[in-house]
Amino acid sequence: QWTTSSIVEDQVKRIGDQIGDGRAICGLSGGVDSAVAAALVQRAIGDRLTCVFVDHGLLRAGERTQVERDFVAATGVNLVTIDARERFLDALAGVTDPEQKRKIIGREFIRVFEQAERDLKAEGDYKFLVQGTLYPDVVESGGGEGTANIKSHHNVGGLPEDLEFELVEPLRLLFKDEVRRVGLELGLPETIVQRQPFPGPGLGIRIIGAVDQERLDTLRAADLIAREELTAAGLDRSIWQCPVVLLADVRSVGVQGDGRTYGHPVVLRPVSSEDAMTADWTRLPYDVLERISTRITNEVAEVNRVVLDVTSKPPGTIEWE
Ligand code: XMP
Repeated sequence: QWTTSSIVEDQVKRIGDQIGDGRAICGLSGGVDSAVAAALVQRAIGDRLTCVFVDHGLLRAGERTQVERDFVAATGVNLVTIDARERFLDALAGVTDPEQKRKIIGREFIRVFEQAERDLKAEGDYKFLVQGTLYPDVVESGGGEGTANIKSHHNVGGLPEDLEFELVEPLRLLFKDEVRRVGLELGLPETIVQRQPFPGPGLGIRIIGAVDQERLDTLRAADLIAREELTAAGLDRSIWQCPVVLLADVRSVGVQGDGRTYGHPVVLRPVSSEDAMTADWTRLPYDVLERISTRITNEVAEVNRVVLDVTSKPPGTIEWE
């Protein structure tokens, strides 16, 4: 019978055996899996692990701090942050097609990450690459029968084949709930361990239309308000996730204060799900919806309308792009 602490003990020993006195690199996304994988490896080899975090500018409010401050405080890990915000904005300028956006973000991410690896390799002998691959990821990429490619998924940390690293995948036999328990056992903060799913391409695929700095700031502000109110209402555990989507190319007339406005709508997309393959729209309490709507339209100047997505998956996907 495996207990969480025996999983930790066992994995720490295996990682130690695999890496010996070598050095390892781990890409952090801000998500649960890469954080727990990194924390396990850190437990095993200490400061011979270096984590790399790419800020692509498509993160939600507070996510960079969560990695730079909270994750580092909890683990003491060596962290290199790469500020690639301008590079991603330039690459995405004017692009509206969802698949095009996904490809650009995936491509730029790999380029930035590879450069970071080359820089690290120049400094020390890094032979190992840590990945937060879970059991369901292993099963999915092996099988795949009948799975139509609906969206090209970009996983931060998904890497090209020609890299000369040996992979370290300490979560390969675990399911998500086990990974969360391991994270807690390792002392990671709840904000990281209980984080809801967030797509690799980030806010880039939640702006319907071209991505630019101003639109990102608008969406980040609206998203933060929605998250604050859902958390305050104690709903984090009962919803799977709640994307907030900015319809950047749509405008509608409104009245705010005593003036006419011509602003953008945001869409709330609260969903309930077991595994994201299918989902139902979550019946959020009206008073919570009201608070979110009032606050967004009061506090985010560019937004004058909040709408609710009441589509299940299928036919709608969870993300809009
Ligand atoms: P869809 O929109 O396909 O999303 O119903 C299903 C789940 O996957 C997340 N998602 C992604 N996660 N990289 C990821 O790591 C991606 O490119 C990506 N696209 C969607 C989405 O948030 C939902 O939980």
